[in-house]
Amino acid sequence: MKITVVGTGYVGLVSGACLAEMGNDVLCLDLDPEKIRVLKEGGIPIHEPGLDQVVARNVAAGRLHFTTNVQEAVQFGTIQFIAVGTPPDEDGSADLQYVLSAARAIGRHMTDYKVVVDKSTVPVGTADKVKAAVQAELDARGEAIPYSVVSNPEFLKEGAAVDDFMRPDRIVVGAEDDQAIFLMKALYAPFQRNHEKLLIMDLRSAELTKYAANAMLATRISFMNELALLSESLGADIELVRQGIGSDPRIGYHFLYAGCGYGGSCFPKDVKALIKTGADAGHALRVLNAVEDANDAQKLVLVDKVVAHFGEDLSGKHFALWGLAFKPNTDDMREAPSRVIIAELFRRGATVTAYDPVAMDETRRIFGDEPRLRYAERPMQALDGADALLIVTEWKEFRSPDFGVIKAKLKSPVIFDGRNVFDPQLPREAGLTYLSIGRP
Ligand SMILES: NC(=O)c1ccc[n+]([C@@H]2O[C@H](COP(=O)([O-])OP(=O)(O)OC[C@H]3O[C@@H](n4cnc5c(N)ncnc54)[C@H](O)[C@@H]3O)[C@@H](O)[C@H]2O)c1
Repeated sequence: MKITVVGTGYVGLVSGACLAEMGNDVLCLDLDPEKIRVLKEGGIPIHEPGLDQVVARNVAAGRLHFTTNVQEAVQFGTIQFIAVGTPPDEDGSADLQYVLSAARAIGRHMTDYKVVVDKSTVPVGTADKVKAAVQAELDARGEAIPYSVVSNPEFLKEGAAVDDFMRPDRIVVGAEDDQAIFLMKALYAPFQRNHEKLLIMDLRSAELTKYAANAMLATRISFMNELALLSESLGADIELVRQGIGSDPRIGYHFLYAGCGYGGSCFPKDVKALIKTGADAGHALRVLNAVEDANDAQKLVLVDKVVAHFGEDLSGKHFALWGLAFKPNTDDMREAPSRVIIAELFRRGATVTAYDPVAMDETRRIFGDEPRLRYAERPMQALDGADALLIVTEWKEFRSPDFGVIKAKLKSPVIFDGRNVFDPQLPREAGLTYLSIGRP
């Protein structure tokens, strides 16, 4: 099939590359000329494990192309995926300007039948707006070209995106006409040879499914974070509680880890957007409001522990910080807890040397020439001259450090672990004070 992907970010590039991998002809469009230049020169603008090989293989095979030319992109694919950003607007709702601008461009340049597929995470009712945007452009041109609008939310996880796209748990397709359903079934057939994964539903249910999924996952995290704080007060161990409840198949082990808060480009904005959708519809989503409040507070829990240990005023203190990305295996810094933690340490007078395997360039872009933030080339180098170590992202390379070296390097040998990376006995045996989340 001939496919156009509008928006070549985390979702668009992974989707485009994986669809090409199954033998489709894919053209990825982005308005960011720098992104397209990097891709055309054989680079990858984001860090996503395994993506470079899939892109390189399909570019070499002539199935994957990149462009900034909107007209060329619209005329290329029968299927037009919209995979642009939907950042939060000032009131928390999803900002649809990029989605609708993409829809208008399709209406402006299409010359034959198109299936317009919304892959971006969008509020219920957006398919109607996309349809209206395409139709308005066709009306303005005096054309009556047929098209279908489909909702196909994406469930991939950054850090495992290629695998998730190639082996999805389910593929949600919201559609209302047979031709679109036929084409979507054909498109996704290679991804579900083992068993049927396509869930065909109406457009509104498909749109809501994506928000419901992210809101449920965020709820599990905030729930565990609140219980972790309670565990600390009661002298219980949240890790043991996690295992005790995760073993119940009705609950399951996934997404039950206490930590220093969720971040990323999806959970925070999608929880906000669903709260706004609820409010607009006259249904206050009380659980989700609490999920968001708990998470905002949780991002500061590590600094609260630092303050409890060193006092309110951190002037002159210097901290090593391991992990900047909002989670391992990505360079994505959107809503990362590290940003809140670093800003709060600065506010209290401290300075920071950070290390992250892939997110330091992105952090430099965000913090600019901030003299209070330095970067280390290796984890242990970040500890030079530091009073204490904070762990904010659970990268694998942090899991088995030499605690003796950490003890020797830190002025006041204490680790504040925001991700419960270690068995507490190991740092303590090395003479370190070890403070983690929800464990005695
Ligand atoms: N990142 C994830 O893990 C993830 C997972 C599932 C769903 N989503 C959803 O997918 C959507 C995209 O997310 P992302 O993380 O890939 O965003 P992103 O910011 O990485 O990429 C979006 C891209 O779209 C481009 N763009 C904007 N307007 C355009 C236009 N009119 N024409 C062409 N290109 C345009 C931007 O330049 C950017 O490169 C969002 O709605 C997000 O909620 C994201």
